[in-house]
Amino acid sequence: KIAGPCSLVLFGITGDLSDRKILPALYDLASHGLLPPSFAITGVARRLKVPLEELVEESIRNFAQTPFDQRVFDQFMGSISVVMGQYDEAKTFQDLRDKLDELDEQQGTGGNHAFYLAVPPDLFPTVLTQLGEAGLSEHPEGWRRVVIEKPFGHDLESSQELNDLVTEVFAPEDVFRIDHYLGKETVQNLLSLRFSNELYEPLWNSDHIDHVQITMAENIGIGSRAGYYDGVGSAKDVIQNHLLQLLALTAMEEPVSFSPHDLRQEKEKVLSALDFFGPVDQSAIRAQYSEGWQGGKFVKAYLDEENIPADSVTDTYAALRLAVRTRRWQGVPFYVRTGKRLARRVTEIAIVFKRPHFLPFEQRVTAGQSNNTLVIRIQPDEGVTFRFGVKVPGASFNVRDVTMDFSYGHAFTEYTPEAYERLILDVLLGEPPLFPQQKEVEESWKILDRAFEYWDTLDTIDTYPPGSWGPLSSDHMLARDGRAWRRA
Ligand code: BG6
Repeated sequence: KIAGPCSLVLFGITGDLSDRKILPALYDLASHGLLPPSFAITGVARRLKVPLEELVEESIRNFAQTPFDQRVFDQFMGSISVVMGQYDEAKTFQDLRDKLDELDEQQGTGGNHAFYLAVPPDLFPTVLTQLGEAGLSEHPEGWRRVVIEKPFGHDLESSQELNDLVTEVFAPEDVFRIDHYLGKETVQNLLSLRFSNELYEPLWNSDHIDHVQITMAENIGIGSRAGYYDGVGSAKDVIQNHLLQLLALTAMEEPVSFSPHDLRQEKEKVLSALDFFGPVDQSAIRAQYSEGWQGGKFVKAYLDEENIPADSVTDTYAALRLAVRTRRWQGVPFYVRTGKRLARRVTEIAIVFKRPHFLPFEQRVTAGQSNNTLVIRIQPDEGVTFRFGVKVPGASFNVRDVTMDFSYGHAFTEYTPEAYERLILDVLLGEPPLFPQQKEVEESWKILDRAFEYWDTLDTIDTYPPGSWGPLSSDHMLARDGRAWRRA
């Protein structure tokens, strides 16, 4: 599908997000002929340190998925211009309006404008107010949309304030909140795995499922992101959004249709039914990485990273034990964890089934067999693995776990779009199913706020060695339940 004529306004075209994600995704769309024939990109920036063309080319060469092609690049570059100015000056927005009028006239962009706020969240209020005051958020004929990136606030209250601010200027249906996990193919595949097969859904409940583990592990530290990361931490950075969205897709009922309304309604129901599985102080773990050896390199402790205050209690690891208070999930814990500087980079959802109630063999408990497990591998090595017990060849009756694998890399030769490609295309098309709505954001914050209410009563924070799978306290949380984290 190709969108109709439109303009994309990119606030923060010189920033990190534009550089690593947005410009490369737009170029990849251009390479695949997926941008509208009448399309223009207008960057807004306070200053350009290098000429625009150099900035765009560098970003594309470093981060685009498709190989660099001079012809595509020249055409792509031809659609980009920049308006320079301060975000708090009305003049910048008058210049922007003149530019957009000119593009509507000369390039036929039809008065359809999407405003992408790829700037730090503390600039949102300024940019939104100015957009409203310059009359850029409304148009009698064309459409107007606004794209914002997480974090959507830092707790329930601030997310509501942000929403009030955005919806003062734009209509609620024109607000596109990016959670880039929903743009990932493997995440969307969760829906087809569950609802286009007969095999799984009859077992997808507390009668058969023992528990669910959702892991997003990264082996990197916080790098140069101290300014953003400290005071935010891992739980607010990725559990509130990415991981609770994965949980919602895993636990939700079958939507009546895949329309934005029906799909979001089912996710929202799950998030509204979320609770801790037991007392919060026994169901919320946070920790920080200490110094040590990782992959043959000595790495700094979080507290020694540049610009991190020595007394910071910001979590670089967090694990929650959650419950979904519905009949389907009665008694099934959802263990969710994330962390920086863990053993390796992996995001997966593991559905761990119950053990059979009865084993008809002489040897009732077989050594090498654990619970049947369905693992949805979000990344890397995208695919699905099923673990089940098989008889070990030989005279005795021993059972051992084996795996059956589906791997995207082997099964498909099709081009896999990067998450941002899909999401930007959907913004231009005006298709919102993959964008969380405010209610989902608020329900997710309610859980996080409860975790922080508890964590804020603690003066200290656990630590874990780099390259490990997190703090012992997290292992203990599962051990008390007679379970263990997967060493994914
Ligand atoms: C971002 C977080 O949302 O997701 C980062 O702010 C994290 O801290 C990143 O590194 C991971 O994204 P991906 O797509 O590489 O898993």
